[in-house]
Amino acid sequence: SPTPAFDLLLFGGTGDLAMRKLIPALWQADAAGQLHVDGRILALGRKPFDDDGYRAWLTAHARPLIAGDVDDAAWRRFLCRVRYLPLDARAPADFVALAGQLPIDEGRALVAYLATAPELFAPICENLAAVGLNHEHARVVLEKPLGRDLASANAINDAVLAHFAERQVYRIDHYLGKESVQNLMAIRFGNVLFEPLWRREWVEHVEITIAEDLGVEGRGEFYDRTGALRDMVQNHLLQLLCIVAMEPPANMGADAIRDEKLKVVSSLRRFRPRDVAARTVRGQYAAGSVRGQPVPAYRDEPDVAPDSRTETYVALIAEIDNWRWAGVPFYLRTGKRLAERVAEIVIHFRDVPHALLPSAAGCATANRLVIHLQPEENIRLHVLAKAPGDGMELQSAALELDFTQRFAARRADAYERLLLDAIRGNLALFMRRDEGVEAWRWVEPILAEWAADPTPPAPYPAGSWGPAAASRLLYQDRHAWHEECAG
Ligand code: BG6
Repeated sequence: SPTPAFDLLLFGGTGDLAMRKLIPALWQADAAGQLHVDGRILALGRKPFDDDGYRAWLTAHARPLIAGDVDDAAWRRFLCRVRYLPLDARAPADFVALAGQLPIDEGRALVAYLATAPELFAPICENLAAVGLNHEHARVVLEKPLGRDLASANAINDAVLAHFAERQVYRIDHYLGKESVQNLMAIRFGNVLFEPLWRREWVEHVEITIAEDLGVEGRGEFYDRTGALRDMVQNHLLQLLCIVAMEPPANMGADAIRDEKLKVVSSLRRFRPRDVAARTVRGQYAAGSVRGQPVPAYRDEPDVAPDSRTETYVALIAEIDNWRWAGVPFYLRTGKRLAERVAEIVIHFRDVPHALLPSAAGCATANRLVIHLQPEENIRLHVLAKAPGDGMELQSAALELDFTQRFAARRADAYERLLLDAIRGNLALFMRRDEGVEAWRWVEPILAEWAADPTPPAPYPAGSWGPAAASRLLYQDRHAWHEECAG
């Protein structure tokens, strides 16, 4: 069903995110009939465009990035929703002009999407409030990174919450908007098959991987002061871990879900200094080749320090100290310039209590549930079956559900889903302050140890699966990463 009437203020309207993700997502939502006829988009930025200039810019830069055919007439109709106002986020007078552009209508949703540097979150919120644009129908959407440690995250949250109530604040983790990530909840809580086994008695260990084949893509300056732990682990990987590990929520309301996720993050065992060396691996890509194309080392990327010690790869062992998961290692990893782009979760079940039948050669002797989140969306349940022939040997084979084949309907991009939720006022797929705070608390001891450690991250060739130390991390527990296992 279409959204209510709305005004969307797009701060950072000429930025990369607006061009690559937000405008294409709004277009798709419009083309799918999801936006109210009276839904308006007011882009804001420092460039001195007028409405037509900005529309022409979108046609030149954002339209080519939209997947699928874009009908000319429909694109022109979409552009009628879009206007532009030059604005300096730190200039209160510009917000007076901004308020003057908005219709006075009590019931309209007002969504301020802050696709800007986080340094601007505080002045933007203050300036919005000064002209009354923090009223009860107003919401503010915050893009990551929300700080670089606990103190800076708290400072940003305090500044925003000085002018908006928590229920008006939508903190984006775009992984939560992915269809496949929501499907994970559907699989867990819509079936009777998995949940009884989804616990320490039956699960041996869990792997969560977000691998990227891309490098830092022109973001060298930002990435070099950020690194993979802040960029991917504190948010996306931990959110995936929460959805895998959380208890069934009381209902699907925002707070019920967020309460359960918070309990998981709060139950993560904190790393003591000596655990960091034993239970984490950081890597940095060296020159190599990805899909047959030679690519430079991280240190040779533009805007990266030639002696950078920033990690582009992280693998670590997380443990959840609660009744359901005590003793079950969660192996998390992410990296840039790896062999492929893949996000997957592997639940490794325990061996049968008594092995009546021998297994064929190879390391798969137990059930595994492999959930591919991207680029393919499928689930494979590996079961053991009889290998054909006159013996009685077991061989692993997979039952497979391919979502894109099975369900032909269009799959909305994460940003489309999240923008629609923000306009409709549904917070369920956004992070609450306390979740982010706990996530920083868990990540901080690792950051501190790494900062104090003069050894550079372990190099790995671009196009590989990461440093050898990441394989050793699992071998010490007699486990192996999924792609290292046969069968
Ligand atoms: C972003 C990170 O949050 O997520 C990027 O800042 C990363 O470094 C991206 O490339 C990955 O998202 P996706 O949806 O392409 O897996």
